[in-house]
Amino acid sequence: MANTIPDIPLNDGNTIPQLGFGVFQIEPKDTVEAVGRALEIGYRHIDTAEMYGNEAEVGEAVRISGLDRGEVFVTSKLNNAFHRPDDARRAFESTLSALKMDYIDLFLIHWPLPTRYDGDFVSTWKTLEEFQRDGRAKSIGVSNFQVPHLERLAAEADVVPAVNQIEVHPYFTNEEVRTYDRQHNIVTEAWSPIAQGKVLDDPTVVDIAQEVGRTPAQVVLRWHVQRGDIVFPKSTTPSRIAENFQIFDFALDDAAMERISGLDRGEAGRQGPNPDEFDYVPS
Ligand SMILES: NC(=O)c1ccc[n+]([C@@H]2O[C@H](COP(=O)([O-])OP(=O)(O)OC[C@H]3O[C@@H](n4cnc5c(N)ncnc54)[C@H](OP(=O)(O)O)[C@@H]3O)[C@@H](O)[C@H]2O)c1
Repeated sequence: MANTIPDIPLNDGNTIPQLGFGVFQIEPKDTVEAVGRALEIGYRHIDTAEMYGNEAEVGEAVRISGLDRGEVFVTSKLNNAFHRPDDARRAFESTLSALKMDYIDLFLIHWPLPTRYDGDFVSTWKTLEEFQRDGRAKSIGVSNFQVPHLERLAAEADVVPAVNQIEVHPYFTNEEVRTYDRQHNIVTEAWSPIAQGKVLDDPTVVDIAQEVGRTPAQVVLRWHVQRGDIVFPKSTTPSRIAENFQIFDFALDDAAMERISGLDRGEAGRQGPNPDEFDYVPS
């Protein structure tokens, strides 16, 4: 079985590689090397954000890789401080200039911030629609949107988000949001797919890894992709960057899939902030 990364179709006609490389918490000084390593191994999808502070280094790594711009799918996200339309326009321009790119493959609202900006994330979304119309964002989407947030966009905006990037891993399977996404032709991207390492010594995961002769991280990442979600594990460790890439040359059977899904702890399993309450805005 060859380790070929599938392209997932988006609702706007574009496609996205199902496996990418995440750069949250990678220091700018380490980013060129980590992303360069990932591109060398074969990753063709990088997930960054303005708030990660390493967009410029992601752009540099893509440029020095020697790959054509069109061969690498790049995602970034709007800084929480810039939801107002004019701020969002300026922030999007800074993202493109930091990356030194004239378009981005996917641009997301990073958090809905329902308790900020008078609860208005709709005008922010409509501003992203402009970026897609003028071609500078090939696809647009959201991150950390809960079902009521998505319902509100469906009622008040024209474009359905191409993706919703949300926390998903075996301890927090986030089925309610995933189900809404699936039913409305929105692709789910699973952030912190290995719960920042916390699920890797779970006895069920370790047992399955032994049974299939793979590592715990490979088993968990494989569980995600068999569920149809997009993943972009982060690592600055070269051997792990390579390990996390080898997940398309084996399969988990239904029983193993169910055992991993059974680890869900509901809300208690959430590792990151609850998007209904999260209100962080950088000063
Ligand atoms: N939209 C959002 O709000 C949001 C929030 C969080 C994350 N994200 C995105 O999702 C990406 C991934 O999430 P994440 O960075 O939070 O966490 P993650 O990918 O679940 O886990 C990363 C951690 O696991 C370790 N690790 C990676 N591969 C491993 C392996 N094979 N074996 C053992 N340990 C391994 C890494 O350590 P080393 O680096 O030391 O190897 C790092 O500490 C982010 O980089 C970002 O792009 C988005």
